[in-house]
Amino acid sequence: MSNCANRSKQVRIGVIGVGGMGARHVHNLTHEVNAAQVVALSDVDAARLQQIATTCGASYLFSDPYALIHHPEVEAVLIAAPDRFHAGLTQACLEAGKPVLCEKPLALTSAEARRIVDAEVRRGRRLVQVGLMREYDPAHLRVKQIIDSGKLGKPLAFRGVHINGGSLSWRTVEDVITNSAVHDLHSARWMMGDEVVRVYVSYVPYSTDRPDTARLVLIQLHYRGGAIGQIECNMEAGYGYEVDVKITGETGAAETNSLQSAVVRFKNQRGQWVEQDWLQRFETAYIQEARAWVRSLQTGAPTGASAWDGYISMVLADACIASARSGQPVDVAVPSIAEIYRRT
Ligand SMILES: NC(=O)c1ccc[n+]([C@@H]2O[C@H](COP(=O)([O-])OP(=O)(O)OC[C@H]3O[C@@H](n4cnc5c(N)ncnc54)[C@H](O)[C@@H]3O)[C@@H](O)[C@H]2O)c1
Repeated sequence: MSNCANRSKQVRIGVIGVGGMGARHVHNLTHEVNAAQVVALSDVDAARLQQIATTCGASYLFSDPYALIHHPEVEAVLIAAPDRFHAGLTQACLEAGKPVLCEKPLALTSAEARRIVDAEVRRGRRLVQVGLMREYDPAHLRVKQIIDSGKLGKPLAFRGVHINGGSLSWRTVEDVITNSAVHDLHSARWMMGDEVVRVYVSYVPYSTDRPDTARLVLIQLHYRGGAIGQIECNMEAGYGYEVDVKITGETGAAETNSLQSAVVRFKNQRGQWVEQDWLQRFETAYIQEARAWVRSLQTGAPTGASAWDGYISMVLADACIASARSGQPVDVAVPSIAEIYRRT
């Protein structure tokens, strides 16, 4: 992008929100991306802000995230504050003309996300990347490459499994879909190379007298080209964290196998450790995402999930929420893509 392009020096980055995910991004940008320097941090938790600052040497610390966005030393912004702040902060980055990597979801509704897309289209070039980082997971990429090679014929079915170990509190249907299943909704589009035109959601609440909560959500998908799909998103499996996808084509099938730990045989048992959380499972993907983003800032060639992808994942999330509420399938009117978002 022009304000960072063609510079051999490091890109000066400000990170907003330095909790679990933000701290990992700070770590990766500091230790895994040579071309990046974290110069500014923002968090409303002053103690946490100081603690993370000592790990990266950031000079500018803010309780107000908008002050970070407008600081002249900050060339690009990474947003890892809670979901409800994403849309407003991303809009502020666009208004300031600063490239931004916004954690998912881009917004809480498709209407909010659309306003970001419209603002970016008015500027005429991409400044926003969304943290839908499965695009950088080596296992997902291998499956995607096989599907795109055409070896397995036309994709007929997508299956995504997203298992979370457990939540500290019961989650609402809306929260599960916008915060967690949004990753799977994006994978379902990106990996199949097709748009979803109908969703049908059923779910198991945490308790029968709390139908607003969802412990396990099942999303059925229908694609424009005739394929079908299914996403299982379990918020409280109780045993660890797993994300996998399987795509069935006309002449074969390909699936990820996320278990990277050794197979251990001991006392008449054979098994593998399941990963603990997303930071373990997607350790490589977060690093590759940060490297690709910083490279894109230097070259001016955008990468990864765009604001458009963030927007369409919210169009699907809205439809999933409507289906969960009504118990009925919901058709999705997929808008036509704006030119700046076409992937080559
Ligand atoms: N891509 C992924 O796989 C992935 C994984 C986990 C979380 N996330 C996303 O990252 C974001 C952060 O999640 P987390 O797990 O780190 O949460 P967290 O609660 O651990 O961290 C959030 C941080 O933001 C700070 N904060 C709150 N309001 C703020 C404000 N107005 N300005 C600046 N800072 C503020 C909090 O004090 C906290 O330190 C969320 O949007 C979440 O959806 C993405």
